Amino acid sequence: MTRQILVTAALPYANGPLHIGHLLEHIQTDIWVRYQRLAGNHCTWVWADDAHGTPIMLRAQAEGISPEALIEKVKASHEADIQDFLLSPNVFHTTHSEENRELATLIYNRLNDGGHIVKRTIKQLFDEQESMFLPDRYVKGECPNCNSADQYGDNCEKCSATYDATELKNPISQVSGKTPVLKDSEQYFFALSKFGDMLKAWTTSGTLQNEVANKLKEWLDSGLQDWDISRNAPYFGFEIPNAPGKYFYVWLDAPIGYIAAHKHLGDKEGFDYLDTWKPDSDHEVYHFIGKDIANFHCLFWPAMLENAGFRKPNGVFCHGFLTVDGAKMSKSRGTSITARTWLDHMSPEYLRYYYAAKLNDSVTDLNLNLEDFITRVNSDLVGKVVNIASRCAGFITKKFDGKLSTDYPAAEQNNYDQMISTQQIILDYYEQREFGKAMREIMLLAEHANTYINDAEPWVKIKQDDQQQAVQDICTVSLNYYRLIITFLSPVLPELATKTEKFLNTKLTLESLKSPLVNHSINAYKPMMMRVEDKQVQAVLEATKESAGPEAAAPASQAASTQDIPPIMDTIEIDDFSKLDFRIACIVDAQPVEGADKLLQLTLDIGLEQRNVFAGIKSAYKPEDLIGRHTVMIANLKPRKMRFGLSEGMVLAAGPGGSDLYILSPDEGATPGMRVK
Ligand code: MSP
Ligand code: ZN
Repeated sequence: MTRQILVTAALPYANGPLHIGHLLEHIQTDIWVRYQRLAGNHCTWVWADDAHGTPIMLRAQAEGISPEALIEKVKASHEADIQDFLLSPNVFHTTHSEENRELATLIYNRLNDGGHIVKRTIKQLFDEQESMFLPDRYVKGECPNCNSADQYGDNCEKCSATYDATELKNPISQVSGKTPVLKDSEQYFFALSKFGDMLKAWTTSGTLQNEVANKLKEWLDSGLQDWDISRNAPYFGFEIPNAPGKYFYVWLDAPIGYIAAHKHLGDKEGFDYLDTWKPDSDHEVYHFIGKDIANFHCLFWPAMLENAGFRKPNGVFCHGFLTVDGAKMSKSRGTSITARTWLDHMSPEYLRYYYAAKLNDSVTDLNLNLEDFITRVNSDLVGKVVNIASRCAGFITKKFDGKLSTDYPAAEQNNYDQMISTQQIILDYYEQREFGKAMREIMLLAEHANTYINDAEPWVKIKQDDQQQAVQDICTVSLNYYRLIITFLSPVLPELATKTEKFLNTKLTLESLKSPLVNHSINAYKPMMMRVEDKQVQAVLEATKESAGPEAAAPASQAASTQDIPPIMDTIEIDDFSKLDFRIACIVDAQPVEGADKLLQLTLDIGLEQRNVFAGIKSAYKPEDLIGRHTVMIANLKPRKMRFGLSEGMVLAAGPGGSDLYILSPDEGATPGMRVK
């Protein structure tokens, strides 16, 4: 029977661009989904942006736009990245949708009716200047355990202690920079503590990886706390029914967003999402997530589902975190690479293959070693795989009128059958998310095919009149190997698979592999995949550094990570401010910079002297439109040596970056050199 499988990946926050860390999860999910479809199962991937919460509200404020406008803009950028990285969700929705409002309300009401919602008054830190209660990550202070300064309100990075934000010593609001006060607040809790036994059973029933189950066991053994699911206004989210001024905490409605996205798809395509989500459904449901959000998916979520009359997932698949060259992604090293920067310089399939080659079913972190990346892609994909086709295609086209042999050479049938027999091993590895092992099996097949061609020497035989049939046979065998290998690789390399379908003039399916392709016309070979060059990798690192460096007029959203970094910085003294020498400048020349996608070289007249400044504003301005304009620069910034020359200051610009960037203009009358005070 065809399996009915529903898959989700975690819903990315709608406050920043996707980066190659997110993509580790997205590519893992996509490969599994495409494998299921290849294997003949009915597999649907529902996905969305996670649009609620304080970071999104504050980011929108900092950008001077509404949260709705922010999440719409970010969604469009996520959708473009999803398409260009060849990801194949059936739907990409948003948690800020009517479907989600209805479902979140329904689930909450059912929990409430079941007596699982309790109200409690607790003391919370309140920012009087901003009139808001402060989420843990928006307070910093001294660790109550080890006294280290500058620690967040949930845990200490120095001693790893976890605590309540109210325990911090000398807390400072990261929103206003002021000292918050303690204030009583009534909150709504989901009575998670009642469901310890159910969760102990569920987490150890084979739904989770052992590592994850063991980790959760520590929590379960020490007893679960009830979970605060409400937040006070101002908050960007859904209001709680019959609780004015209270909103659902983002993590309540975020996973419900999976169901809401599925409902949205069902309404469009005419199926009932409840066939999957009712308690006794025989459909399968799997969540792909990072290890940082396991507790939400493996404790809170199943308890909510069970008590609101929905089914629980069959599996939650956790992956580790991405490191680049052995370290956490970093803006200054250029390794905090956005999806778009990657796409600007390199094929998405390189990254898809590299991740596939390194992924397994464990929760350990995965390292992108850039040198290894280049070697692996070139030697496996170009050297071993694509090479099979490029070595044989020309003979078929030029000498045999594009036709494969009429019959498969009898002496080779056995070898073909043997290759096919590895199919089940490879499919099983895909099923178990052991993609690295699957890639190794496939590369063994490719090595085998290359050895066959080397030994058969079609380029020698082609010169011998009596060997023409032999050459056609050799190429037929090789191209059949190629077809087989690309079919097995198609979940990882969908674009290469499409190109191969055109070239071989046939659809790649497991069914059709059962008999070799013979007596069949193929199309002329066009290069299928280029070698990746070191300079492409360097360009990605450079572009990432550029967008982070001070010369790029770093706007708030680029300086911040995708989550939780407050947009308003600590307060400074007036003396600090007077150290900054801002001047009115006239842009007397603006030129593109060779080898830098984002930079313009500006010549700025500041009265007594001219300055050379590299500014990351190329996506927003044509150089010729800038010439003659007045703007504001910081004139006493220490000159900075860049790859392209010395940058002697910085112009000021506002906005998230890219084409959405605005340099400042003074009112008429301000002349070059005037000090800005
Ligand atoms: N919005 C929540 C998820 C809600 S799901 C109902 C969230 N968003 S996130 O944007 O911060 O992360 C999305 C996913 O990307 C998470 O599974 C997270 O683990 C994963 N990753 C984020 N950074 C990552 C790396 N550097 N490496 C690997 N995965 C990473 O959490
Ligand atoms: Zn500490």
